[in-house]
Amino acid sequence: MAEVKHYTLEEIQQHNTSKSTWIIIHNKVYDVTKFLEEHPGGEEVLREQAGGDATETFEDIGHSTDARNMSKDFVIGELHPDDRSKLQKPADTFITTTESESSWWSNWIIPGISAIIVALMYRFYMTDE
Ligand code: HEM
Repeated sequence: MAEVKHYTLEEIQQHNTSKSTWIIIHNKVYDVTKFLEEHPGGEEVLREQAGGDATETFEDIGHSTDARNMSKDFVIGELHPDDRSKLQKPADTFITTTESESSWWSNWIIPGISAIIVALMYRFYMTDE
């Protein structure tokens, strides 16, 4: 195979079913449909990543050299260069972290105010009797 087949992210994302399961690891596209049942780590973990980028989870597990060699059998092509930037967005992760921190606070504001209102109503109601 002299030419590498390129797939767009949109195309890959459609292969997120048990009929056709593709995953992306280091910008390479793997068709793991037939491998699902054989995967020592279980099919569930692969299904969760279906149609998307599994680089991080793949690396987090620390797959053996055997596993890495094995994975070569499932390569069907590569992620289109134009779409690679859509996957690796460390800056976004940063922003998400700060965002989720601020939403952590706002998540407490509503229940907090509700609790105060309920407490005031309760007191009002009780003193009325
Ligand atoms: C084509 C891609 C993959 C191949 C060929 C592959 C192969 C293997 C192999 C051979 C093992 C046995 C342990 C080892 O040799 O390291 C394993 C374990 C495992 N894999 Fe994969 N794997 C692939 C992708 C993934 C992905 C994307 C994930 C995560 C979403 C994953 C999660 C796991 C887990 C959780 C284990 C179990 C580790 C343990 O029991 O300690 N694998 N895999």
